[in-house]
Amino acid sequence: MSDYMFMLESHLTASQFQVVNAVQAAAADTNVSVFLSGGAMRDVLGGYPVRDLDFVIEGLPKTFAKLLEKKLHGEVVASDERKKSIAMRFPGNVTAEFAMAKVEKYGRAGSKPQIIPATIHEDLRGRDFTINAIALSLNKASRGLLLDPTNGLADLERREMQTAYSYALYDDPARILRMWRFSVRMNFPLSERTRGQYANVKESGQHLKISNEILGPELLRMAGEGNPAELLRILDEEKILPLFSPALTGAKVNLAGMQKLMKARTHIPFEIGFEANQPSLFLYLLTQKLTPKEKTALIKNMSIDKATVNSWQQLEAKSKKLEKELKSPLLKKPSLIYKALRHAAGDQVVFLLMNSSERQVQERIKNYLQKFVGIVQETTDAEVSEATKIAPEASKFAKAKEEYLAKKLDAKPKKLPEPELEAVPTIPVPQQPMGRGTGRVVAARS
Ligand code: CTP
Repeated sequence: MSDYMFMLESHLTASQFQVVNAVQAAAADTNVSVFLSGGAMRDVLGGYPVRDLDFVIEGLPKTFAKLLEKKLHGEVVASDERKKSIAMRFPGNVTAEFAMAKVEKYGRAGSKPQIIPATIHEDLRGRDFTINAIALSLNKASRGLLLDPTNGLADLERREMQTAYSYALYDDPARILRMWRFSVRMNFPLSERTRGQYANVKESGQHLKISNEILGPELLRMAGEGNPAELLRILDEEKILPLFSPALTGAKVNLAGMQKLMKARTHIPFEIGFEANQPSLFLYLLTQKLTPKEKTALIKNMSIDKATVNSWQQLEAKSKKLEKELKSPLLKKPSLIYKALRHAAGDQVVFLLMNSSERQVQERIKNYLQKFVGIVQETTDAEVSEATKIAPEASKFAKAKEEYLAKKLDAKPKKLPEPELEAVPTIPVPQQPMGRGTGRVVAARS
């Protein structure tokens, strides 16, 4: 196995690797060349968690999607006929994009490019940044071969944002938003050359030509970033925020709100997979200082989908309702707090962590996130089965597990035995050198 295939296996989740394996098999079956590329390769090589799997196919992705729908029970969630790309979701919450290898021929800068089928090398050279222009072959004859025509690996090591070609930002100014998003996410500054290209694009006014069709989805992507406060600060400093809404300038840029969001997120342990990055929260904070009229204009301009707008606009009222439930004097036991919160929406829980002035509500949420969810997650069916003597397949098992978990959650934590140092002096303690940093003598008892 090549080093990169090994790296892939150890870096992806089991479900993601299963999809990669199925794609390799489909490549062999159909005799079509397939590569893993883009953000997936950047994240594997850079040591970041992989969000989506980006596959590039030297051919049409439709056949592939069909094969994988059958083999892995994947479902197509979106497709772009013009770009010949298909987005799919697989069990285990794996998302993947299958795109035809292509070059995009730009006429007028900033205009919609003409899409032409191409080889993987041509495709990579026309991408936005070098760190996104790396691909790994999944084909039988060259499996594990790394293709890196713009030297992205070196930029990953140097920790720098570098455009893949000189006109990358000029051809598609939407890449400016991507550039700042990645720069903040990975803490990669712009290379000197890229800084110069960016200054030229800004001077030409080209950056003002990002279409609303792109601005909307980009805004929603910002919601998923780990440091929205810094991203917003830069976009404000760079005078890019008014593209989303002319009202987003000066004191109306809610940096303090974004910082509060980041602080609230620190209470959420990574392992519990709690969804706290919803666009609703981000949009609520982003527009908190705008007037109702300005908010309506932003929704219209960005053509944000109705479901997202609704969850953002109902967030405050729904969170208040949840707060009322969590204040209930009936919620005396941990198992009842767990029940009240386990189906609660993540954005509402984080909203309360940020805004509730009720100490009890804050404590209950923190206990839920930091203690109760962990206890439930570490309880295996085998443990429940052994304690209840009911087999996991039995129809009574679900109820028995519920009761077992409630008991476990409500059990008082066992007290550790007090150290009995006071009683020891009557026994002669042999003098031994103390290990560094021990700071405590524990006498052996016979
Ligand atoms: N890409 C590009 N120019 C754009 C958008 C995308 O060159 N305007 C290329 C990049 O190489 C990118 C790939 O298409 O890596 C896939 O795009 P996308 O899935 O949007 O981004 P990711 O890089 O996967 O980033 P994220 O982690 O945000 O999903």
